[in-house]
Amino acid sequence: MTADSSSRKRLFIKTYGCQMNVYDSGRMADVLAPLGYTATDTPDDADMVILNTCHIREKAAEKVFSDLGRMRVHKTARENTGGELIIAVAGCVAQAEGAEIIRRAPFVDIVLGPQTYHRLPEMVARAQRTKGAGVLDTDFPVEPKFDHLPPPRADGPTAFLSVQEGCDKFCTFCVVPYTRGAEYSRPVAAILREARGLVAGGTKEITLLGQNVNAYHGGSADGATWNLGRLIRELAEIDGLARIRYTTSHPRDMDESLMTAHRDVPQLMPFLHLPVQSGSDKILTAMNRGHTRDDYRRVIDTLRGYRPDLALSSDFIAGMPGETDKDFAETMALVEEIGFAQSFSFKYSPRPGTPAAGMKNQIPEDVKNERLYAVQALLDAQLTAFNAACVGKTLDVLLTHPGRNPGQIIGRSPYLQAVHVTADKRNIGTIVPLKVVTLESYSLGALWPEGEQTMSA
Ligand code: 5AD
Ligand code: SF4
Repeated sequence: MTADSSSRKRLFIKTYGCQMNVYDSGRMADVLAPLGYTATDTPDDADMVILNTCHIREKAAEKVFSDLGRMRVHKTARENTGGELIIAVAGCVAQAEGAEIIRRAPFVDIVLGPQTYHRLPEMVARAQRTKGAGVLDTDFPVEPKFDHLPPPRADGPTAFLSVQEGCDKFCTFCVVPYTRGAEYSRPVAAILREARGLVAGGTKEITLLGQNVNAYHGGSADGATWNLGRLIRELAEIDGLARIRYTTSHPRDMDESLMTAHRDVPQLMPFLHLPVQSGSDKILTAMNRGHTRDDYRRVIDTLRGYRPDLALSSDFIAGMPGETDKDFAETMALVEEIGFAQSFSFKYSPRPGTPAAGMKNQIPEDVKNERLYAVQALLDAQLTAFNAACVGKTLDVLLTHPGRNPGQIIGRSPYLQAVHVTADKRNIGTIVPLKVVTLESYSLGALWPEGEQTMSA
């Protein structure tokens, strides 16, 4: 089914939160394309708006309600001129607070959880039929949505590919097991098909996605269950796929097959996001992480043995209930000891329904803030030191998109650093060894290799 130009409608999607949501937003656009929707980057002229939300911390969830207020203004303006604007709320806030959204924002037409976006076309039709009565679909259907989605089209040199969803780890601070549901791994064949399609369309780098991606255990055609290490080895056989990454991982699921893939598979990039959350064993236990600080150290030592230039990234939570100054000092010491190329750190945010939200020993806001600033300052210093050490080196950079300045192209280093260089746009999609010459706040400046032509007219 293709849309003729008279039925062309504009779709604006705002994505909050993690890379899974970025991937899901792309897939929602794909399922709506046959209905005539094409993407627009502003809500001003949209016929439909989807807010693809994140519930991981309170701030992210509250932002949705303030954005909904703005969308209501657009909707009223359009209705006053005889048009319509369908407003949908998708993602984890929708999953966790569906009924509350319809109560607080009755002008919302559709509320759908992350497991049901393949049913969006139906929901749009229902919303149009039953104007004013919000459609709510936050099931966890038995049939996986992936079976009902069109294959995604390649859209540039880098792409995400969702291989796993949900989480069974139940860290006490985290809403993911409730909003995304139980762990599910897509079958090997579907993943390989999607990857080959992306590569045929020009994708050079694929990031395998999952809330707990290294717990991947997908069924293969031969009846065996494959782990992530095996899957990566198979993906590396695809001609033209130059780079593979995966995120987000759990230290407990770093098995030998995955760790040795870092040694054996040159396409697997030397950068790993492996959240530790805290450096205190007492806090790791309170978090139900299922690993100690020493377990984490051991995994890192093994990985660095296999791939000495592996750069690391982690997530940290400051001010988990019960965290003392001593516990926090242990986190700082672990950061010092490991050395991270980049990281994310968050103030603990109680999430309704999670065990940690009900713990008695909550930490005062000012203490949480103080600790967050301290760990961020240390992580920032490590990031700067890591980037500074790259100045003077030559890195293979995958050129991905034009920069803001004329003649500039932005690319990614193996360590996921943004690198910019002056070169012709037609080089986008190629991997070029670039000499890094400058360090900027969050990127590196590089020079085109001497004697090599940039592709030009
Ligand atoms: N408060 C603060 N940070 C959280 N994260 C998850 N839940 C919470 C919470 N309740 C962080 C963790 C996780 C990252 C995606 O978000 O560090 O790894
Ligand atoms: Fe949340 Fe990650 Fe823990 Fe799963 S492993 S509960 S997604 S923090």
